[in-house]
Amino acid sequence: MSARHPVPIPDFLYGTAWKEDRTPALTELAVRMGFRGIDTANQRRHYFEAGVGQGLASAFRAGVVTRADLFLQTKFTHQPGQDHRLPYDPQADLSTQVAQSMASSLEHLGTDHVDSYVLHGPVSASGWTDSDAEVWVAMVKERDAGRTRLLGVSNVSLRQLGQMAATGAETPAFVQNRCFARAGWDRDVRAFCRERKIVYQGFSLLTANPEVLRHPLVADLAARREATPAQVVFRFAQAVGMLPLTGTTDAGHMKQDLASRDLALSADEVRAIESLAG
Ligand SMILES: NC(=O)c1ccc[n+]([C@@H]2O[C@H](COP(=O)([O-])OP(=O)(O)OC[C@H]3O[C@@H](n4cnc5c(N)ncnc54)[C@H](OP(=O)(O)O)[C@@H]3O)[C@@H](O)[C@H]2O)c1
Repeated sequence: MSARHPVPIPDFLYGTAWKEDRTPALTELAVRMGFRGIDTANQRRHYFEAGVGQGLASAFRAGVVTRADLFLQTKFTHQPGQDHRLPYDPQADLSTQVAQSMASSLEHLGTDHVDSYVLHGPVSASGWTDSDAEVWVAMVKERDAGRTRLLGVSNVSLRQLGQMAATGAETPAFVQNRCFARAGWDRDVRAFCRERKIVYQGFSLLTANPEVLRHPLVADLAARREATPAQVVFRFAQAVGMLPLTGTTDAGHMKQDLASRDLALSADEVRAIESLAG
């Protein structure tokens, strides 16, 4: 990251997965409701990245925000995570695939750079492979060329992060993981991130943790603040240093999710939630 161009990292990300034809309207609505961070991926199987660009263009035309107001994050997805709608030539080497995927993302999003470029996941669950290392070097080149300001990795285990670090790879700015309360809210990976000043982005905070939303401790905290259990979970996530994602399709929930930032949780309450499921 250039010191002359510090990138403000928002405190909430709006996720654009699984929205298909509703992607443009929901992206625009999220920006209108106040989200300034947008997460997408050049993976047509789960995301409609061009639709995100359409929604942003509409918000720009309406004068809601400018590009400079937004933190845009997209991802490179290895071929096993894609369907037939590939944003690169599958015969090309991995470095070329990264360059082609990035060029396609910039076109989809109507911008000359993103703020964060994330490796959607290592190619294999078994470890950090040579293929991942090759992709990461190509992503660093994209960053050095100014097409992204920051880099991240997603769907990674502590072991993979350790292996990545052992290769001497540049430390990511972000780790984006599904966050299970029963794993101490990804405690080990979060500790790894904290030690290295990596920002941990948590997704599926609600959908992966239905038992937490139903838990009397969370229900009681919510009731006492005239808030919802979902808001308590999002506020808890921020209180432990996470950057949460929400992909809500509901305007009321967008408002509630952003308003969760103002909930006051004591240090004891945060500790109680952190340890309630694992
Ligand atoms: N890196 C990866 O591999 C990966 C994987 C999955 C997701 N992601 C990212 O993370 C984003 C979020 O995905 P997610 O898995 O967390 O799930 P999600 O798509 O955000 O789903 C959240 C669920 O919670 C509900 N919800 C949201 N706010 C609520 C509230 N205040 N009260 C009650 N219900 C509420 C939503 O319902 P309503 O729509 O009715 O509000 C929805 O059913 C995705 O869009 C994507 O950008 C990344």
